[in-house]
Parts: sequence; structure tokens; C-alpha cells
Amino acid sequence: MRDTAPAPHADRREQNAARLLRASARHSFDPLTEIDWDAPIDPDHFALPQHRVTLYGTPLWESLTPRQQARLSVHQLASATAAGIWFELVLMEGLIRHVYEGDLTTRHAQYALTEVADECRHSTMFARYIAATGYPSARPSAKAHRRGKLHFLLNDTAITFAGAIFVEEFTDAMQREMVRDESLQPLARAVARIHVVEEARHIGYAKPELERIWARMGPARRAVFRRGLLVLARLAVAELVHPRVYALSGLDVRAAERAAAANEHWRLARVDWARKALAFFTDLGVVDHRTAPHWRRAGLLD
Ligand SMILES: [Fe+2]
Ligand SMILES: [Fe+2]
Repeated sequence: MRDTAPAPHADRREQNAARLLRASARHSFDPLTEIDWDAPIDPDHFALPQHRVTLYGTPLWESLTPRQQARLSVHQLASATAAGIWFELVLMEGLIRHVYEGDLTTRHAQYALTEVADECRHSTMFARYIAATGYPSARPSAKAHRRGKLHFLLNDTAITFAGAIFVEEFTDAMQREMVRDESLQPLARAVARIHVVEEARHIGYAKPELERIWARMGPARRAVFRRGLLVLARLAVAELVHPRVYALSGLDVRAAERAAAANEHWRLARVDWARKALAFFTDLGVVDHRTAPHWRRAGLLD
């Protein structure tokens, strides 16, 4: 018997973690055996809905044949998938450190390791997808690589969880569209389906954690945190489309980047995919009247 009653928040935290552990036991997938990696890829299948490709609707888009447009969508998804690996590696490191500071007899710490196990499988699955499409690398840009190392040094738990909420909600929205669209490449949809199921739990773990940490932050720390999250979100979204996506499609990289930056369809895609995360951050007060204009300028908020 314990001689002191646990704090109510610790109870809630343990109950949430126990629920997530039960859900993990019921619905976890091994992508190496669940997915048919040897099935041929149809070169005419899009990997993303057409209107979600960065150049959709621009003169550059019209200059491509339907097959080239489909290929561009596959490169864009492969690049976004490489960004996903980059982020998952940073997140896993943050979760391991979170466990290191905690006690593995708690459900909360046990769930953190369960999430690391999920992300290990995801990153391997993502790498298999990238290789299957012929996209040449799963490495992030040099800038993201350096920023990831900086995060390893800073090890800010609040940023780890907030970053997880932003990236996981964003990816979730994109992948749910892919799962719904039966015209898309079956391999891309199979990867998305597994990821969507397992990521819902990760979001359910990160949100109450961030709420708890945020409630204890003073005004000065909150001000720094608001800026830090904006920097991370901008970087994560920029990382979605590596310049090689355009080079591989035979396009002039500078011209393609300019066209994408000015493309209203692409701005809407980012706003739509960021919507749930931004609603959560706004409710919590992480995005406020001072920082909202920066999120708007980044093309992540209407
Ligand atoms: Fe994941
Ligand atoms: Fe995740």
C-alpha cells in the first residue's frame, strides 16, 4: 500500500497511459509483413491528391504530362516521408530522455517507450517506401540535420511534445486524405493507413503532457516557447519539399520554388493540414494575438 495519495493529475496521466497501452496492444502493425513491398508501382498513379501537389494549377504544372505530374507527386510524398523520418528520430530521442528522467514502473513512462517502438517501425516503413519509389535519399536537408542536433543538445520536453502535436496532426490530416482517395497509389495508401492508426495514440499522449507543462510555465518561458514552436513548425513544413523533388522532375528548382511559394492551392493545403494543431495551440494560448500573424505569414493559419 502507498502511504501517500497520488496527485489527481498523476492519476489522470496514468489512466491515459494505461488506455493508450491497451490500444497499442490491440492495434499495432508490423509494416514489414503487413505491406506487399514487391507489388509493382503504376507510374500513372498519383501518390497525393493532385490539388495537394505544390505546383498544382500553375503554368509549370500545365507544362508537365499527366505521367510527369504523377511522378512529381510521388517525389513530393517521398520527400515528405524523409522529413517524417527526420522528425521521428528527433522525437524518439526526446521520448527516450523523457523516460530517463522518469520511472519505468509508471504506465506513463512505459507508454513513452511503446511510442518509440511505434516510431522505430514507422521510420523503417518510411525508408522502405522511399526506396521502393526510387527516390534517392531518406536524409533531411543540411539545415534540418543541424537543427535536429541542436534539439538533441537543448532537450526541451515542451518543444518535443508541441513539435510532436504539430507534425503528427499535420501528417495525420495529409494521410487521412490519402486513405480516403482510392485513386491514389496503393503502396502510399497502405503506408498512410498504418501510420494514421498508430499516430492517433501519439497525439493523445502529447496533448495532455503539453497542457500540463504549459500550465506550469511562467510568462517569460511562454514567450520563448511561442517563438520556438513557430521556428520548429516553419522548418518542419519547409522540409516537406526538398529541392531535389523539382530537380528529379527536370524542373528549374528556383522557378519551381517560386511558383510553389506563390501558389494559393499549396497555401490552402498547408492551412488545411495544420488546422487541428493550430486550433489546439490557440485554445491553449500557445498561439495568441501576437504570434498568430507570424503563423499566417508562414502560410499555416487562415
Ligand atoms: Fe510515426
Ligand atoms: Fe508519432
